Amino acid sequence: MPSQTLEQALASAANAFFACSDTAKLDAQVLLLDVIGQSRSYLFTWPDKALTAQQQTQFEQAVARRLAGEPIAHIIGYREFWSLKLKVSPATLIPRPDTETLVEHALSLALPEHAKVLDLGTGTGAIALALASEQFNWQVTGCDRIEDAVVLAQTNQAALEIKNCRFVQSNWFSAFSTEQFDLIVSNPPYIEQDDPHLSQGDVRFEPLSALVAPDNGLADIRTIVNQARTFLTSGGYLLLEHGYQQAEQVSAIFLQMAYKDIRTIKDLAGNDRVTLARWYG
Ligand SMILES: C[S@@+](CC[C@H](N)C(=O)[O-])C[C@H]1O[C@@H](n2cnc3c(N)ncnc32)[C@H](O)[C@@H]1O
Repeated sequence: MPSQTLEQALASAANAFFACSDTAKLDAQVLLLDVIGQSRSYLFTWPDKALTAQQQTQFEQAVARRLAGEPIAHIIGYREFWSLKLKVSPATLIPRPDTETLVEHALSLALPEHAKVLDLGTGTGAIALALASEQFNWQVTGCDRIEDAVVLAQTNQAALEIKNCRFVQSNWFSAFSTEQFDLIVSNPPYIEQDDPHLSQGDVRFEPLSALVAPDNGLADIRTIVNQARTFLTSGGYLLLEHGYQQAEQVSAIFLQMAYKDIRTIKDLAGNDRVTLARWYG
């Protein structure tokens, strides 16, 4: 195909995406901007600029991947979370805007100035890096069971030059023996194994190890709530992201394990998204 102008490339890609994406125009813009390496305003200032032959080929390849269902973040290789540009990979979840609710609430808690914080199932390092980037005096640890995720989080940390954070490989608390944390946060796998959404859209390209938990999606949450009691300081907080219909069950698990001050926070869409509680050991 001869090289298109920016406007033509945008229109033809958006048109092709309408059948497979709810965000067809935006998808086309993001892919095109990634290929030409420019900011959004460039597209509207120079709509008649022609793509080079190399850009045209790259764009066609990116469009084909999107048409095959691949998430935009996997195609361009990164996703923004809490204004941090994070490298992503098929080893773990692409960070979601919903998870910023957890970050925002964690930052609003009254914690010691030099709080020790643990992010369980850190994936790209999204939560840990967001917290560390806001609170320079906190010492943040992120862990994940998947080695490739730990390496990815470390790569993101190095790129962002965030110093007060470290990442380790751990099966929940297995790498920690005597450490105590003022705050433990987690966005664990919480989707039910037979949830029909698992075979739809972008989520098909994310690993089940990041998404699915047995026992109606609650098995990992139960394990974390149980084991965290050994690793929280007295009065320490545990914040968990969960499915929008799981707040009652998660609160019941906290109650069963003798936590206090149990509360649920809604996300920007008004859905129950995070439940937190304090441990007085
Ligand atoms: C829903 S993803 C969340 C990733 C990241 N925290 C975020 O919010 O974008 C869950 C993460 O938990 C990790 N995980 C699953 N089981 C684990 C376990 N037993 N121990 C540690 N991490 C685990 C997965 O590898 C995955 O990276």
